[in-house]
Amino acid sequence: MAAARGGFSSRLGFILAAAGSAVGLGNIWGFPTQTASNGGAAFVLVYLVLAFCLAYPAFMAELMIGRYGQANAVTSLQKMSRQAWQKKFAFMVGFGGIICATLILSFYGIIAGWMMSYAVEPFAKMIGMPPVAEWVITQGITRNVLFTALFMFLTVFIIRRGVEDGIEKWSKRLMPMLIALLVLLIIYVMTLDGASDGLDAYLNPDLSKVFEPDLLVSALGQAFFSLSLGTSVMVIYGSYISKKENLVTLGAQVTLIDVSIAFLAGLLIIPSMYVAQAQGVAIFAADGSLISGPSMVFSVLPTLFEGMGAIGLFVGFAFFILMSIAALTSSISMLEGPVSYAVERHDIERTKATTGIGFIIFLMSTLIVLNLDFMLDFVATLATEYGQPIIAMLCCIFVGWIWQRSEILAEIKQGNEQVESSLFWKIWPWYTKFVCPVAIAMVFIHSL
Ligand code: PHE
Repeated sequence: MAAARGGFSSRLGFILAAAGSAVGLGNIWGFPTQTASNGGAAFVLVYLVLAFCLAYPAFMAELMIGRYGQANAVTSLQKMSRQAWQKKFAFMVGFGGIICATLILSFYGIIAGWMMSYAVEPFAKMIGMPPVAEWVITQGITRNVLFTALFMFLTVFIIRRGVEDGIEKWSKRLMPMLIALLVLLIIYVMTLDGASDGLDAYLNPDLSKVFEPDLLVSALGQAFFSLSLGTSVMVIYGSYISKKENLVTLGAQVTLIDVSIAFLAGLLIIPSMYVAQAQGVAIFAADGSLISGPSMVFSVLPTLFEGMGAIGLFVGFAFFILMSIAALTSSISMLEGPVSYAVERHDIERTKATTGIGFIIFLMSTLIVLNLDFMLDFVATLATEYGQPIIAMLCCIFVGWIWQRSEILAEIKQGNEQVESSLFWKIWPWYTKFVCPVAIAMVFIHSL
């Protein structure tokens, strides 16, 4: 059984693949959108605190569950269970995560489709096809269904090939390019009029807003969404890590990469909004709040690229292509959730499971496209603001209360002999047992 499973060929392979899952639309579309709709810098501050203090420990719990269980989320959690009720609980948590991944992919594919259509637009202009350029960036059912289908097709195509060939290969080289482009764009934006106001809105928090219930729930959901938690994905990726690796540092590196890229994206997009304002574009709603919503990024960035003149076409093309690939390295991780479950638990052939599940998710996406205004927001909120934190919290409860401490220690000692005397081992076990579940629950109670 173990020999038949895939695995990451190297340490770098895992970091790239896990960072590939983590870094995606959540960082470059979700984070700036949430920052804008939650009033700017206060959101950024709360997000950073929650990402390191709650999401990172929960991330470690999920990686450990997977590496210990060496299987999909349900099987892994059940391996840690001793009593019948624990096995049932394990099923609920593991399967809940798989459902969550499925729901997320159903709306994620639509937005990733927009990224692809915005990559086609400058290309169509370059080759002298303005009507096509216009059509691909105009909201419409046909366009949305078409690009979602294309994106799902690519996702299915990669996942059919399995871990090393598919996931790992695709995750390489992308990250450095994406970071380089973001940094160059930030430098460019900073030279434009209005950027300093944007910087102020991004970095100077209004501390009175920090405890607003809506802001807290949004920041918590965003932190868990960005690290792909509560979806069974990191459990599976954990199961592909070799026992020789040091989980503690791997987890920290991925968290750092993920949070940094979100922070960079905000540093580009929020000031870009203020640059647009200096050029006469309205960026505030009647009530004084920043205009946001799912299409905000798609109006701010193209305006920025247009202002660059001819070179803007190339920059826009490169940016949206990189974003599409970043979305792809995330979507393949989401599809791997239900697929590895179907393959390992129900003996379904990998290619069949991938195509079948991919098709079902595409149908769900179509349903959302047909009711875009209402359903996109509904599914996204349900899955990311409620589903993910709750399931991640249940994973922490599992690790803290059901898994035996001696077994946890034996697991992380592999690849990290000195862990017992480390600060991590002094804090993390009780932190995951008490602080994470209580803090996550408190955010929800506070929001009611
Ligand atoms: N973390 C991904 C992103 O930021 C989204 C994701 C969520 C991926 C859940 C897998 C599981 O875009």
